Amino acid sequence: MRLISSYYASSRVIFKAIPMIGLELAPLSDDERLHEDKLRSEITSVIAARGGWISFADFMNLALYAPGLGYYAAGAYKLGIGGDFTTAPELSPVFGRCIATQCEQILSAVGGGEILEIGAGTGALAVDILEELNRARCLPTAYRILEPSPELRVRQQQRLLALDASLRNRVSWLDSLPTDTFSGVILANEVLDALPVECFQVTKENVESLGVIATSNGFAWAPKPANAALAAAVTALAATRGVNFFDGYRSELCLSLEPWLAAVLKSLERGVALFVDYGLSREHYYDDSHLGGTLACYHRQRQHHDPFVNLGLQDITAWVDFTRVADAAVAIGLTIEGYTTQANFLLGLGFDEHLTALGETLTQSDRMRLIRSAARLVMPHEMGETFKCMALGRDYSSALRGFSVRDFTASL
Ligand SMILES: C[S@@+](CC[C@H](N)C(=O)[O-])C[C@H]1O[C@@H](n2cnc3c(N)ncnc32)[C@H](O)[C@@H]1O
Repeated sequence: MRLISSYYASSRVIFKAIPMIGLELAPLSDDERLHEDKLRSEITSVIAARGGWISFADFMNLALYAPGLGYYAAGAYKLGIGGDFTTAPELSPVFGRCIATQCEQILSAVGGGEILEIGAGTGALAVDILEELNRARCLPTAYRILEPSPELRVRQQQRLLALDASLRNRVSWLDSLPTDTFSGVILANEVLDALPVECFQVTKENVESLGVIATSNGFAWAPKPANAALAAAVTALAATRGVNFFDGYRSELCLSLEPWLAAVLKSLERGVALFVDYGLSREHYYDDSHLGGTLACYHRQRQHHDPFVNLGLQDITAWVDFTRVADAAVAIGLTIEGYTTQANFLLGLGFDEHLTALGETLTQSDRMRLIRSAARLVMPHEMGETFKCMALGRDYSSALRGFSVRDFTASL
């Protein structure tokens, strides 16, 4: 029997404190089994070609992005009702309105510019932002979306049909990161958590990379001495204040974060990049309460911890080490403009006012429904504390409103 969390995740908040009990995985259709089998044989071939072992980051990369088969490269229905998980923009339009208020401040400060959204999901955030910026008379000159998933790109295009043509015509899709530079805002909500991570284990003698082998019963974890890059990265983590890796400590880290961030931020000439995701400062990420790491999988609104099942049909994620994000950004010349919880961020951006405005034309019962779902964005035991927001600036100097309630940059 596979171990599955008893928590049926309706948002992507991972409650690791909830005990794991034996629950069956959601059953797969014949087509899904066929899809799984194809991806399994592709990954098995890669493992064989590399001498019988691949790193977990390589496995995660194939499971999420293998052309035509990976979770984000194929057709599985991902977000929302009937999908695998729900995100903040899906939960309530208040989220998008607050982000728009932050964009308005940035666009005004840099004298106008563009918005680049990375990983736009169903397009809900784009719609809410454009409508709010239109009301505020502060539209971006262009709203570009970088979306690797063909399924989500189609859903975005359909969702954006709800917009007036004067707004919709500002939106375009990129197949890869922009090659030009622009002033304005880069947005990425729940994207960093999809970047492939290396899993490691610290032993008395050395650092091991927890990789993947193919067995007659499917894929399995297999340790191997870490290569120089992973060993150096884990050694650097171990030197962090408050981090105490003891024999058997297991976790993960994202070696692809630095090159990914550098590629993304290269296009920002002037303005701010906003990253929202579940994560922690390094000191807390690697404390005793997160022993075992934060890897989680999402399939049909269930959260579990087995990346070797539902191949190509489930999301695989890890929390974000925001200290790593900050260090990577500073190393390439950006400044940390703020780091706080999602609750503080949204409250600083007029969460209450936006909620009141949204409820004005609703019936009493619809207003109560609106308030209940919006509350999940800020409640500490839901998304309010687990999710963090980090702003990285280039040639940018105005204090951002989203960090006016509380800024935890000093804790990074
Ligand atoms: C969890 S969804 C979040 C979607 C949306 N931002 C939201 O909040 O509803 C992750 C999004 O990031 C995209 N994505 C995943 N990996 C990516 C990558 N390496 N680069 C850019 N986008 C990526 C996915 O296709 C998807 O749109």
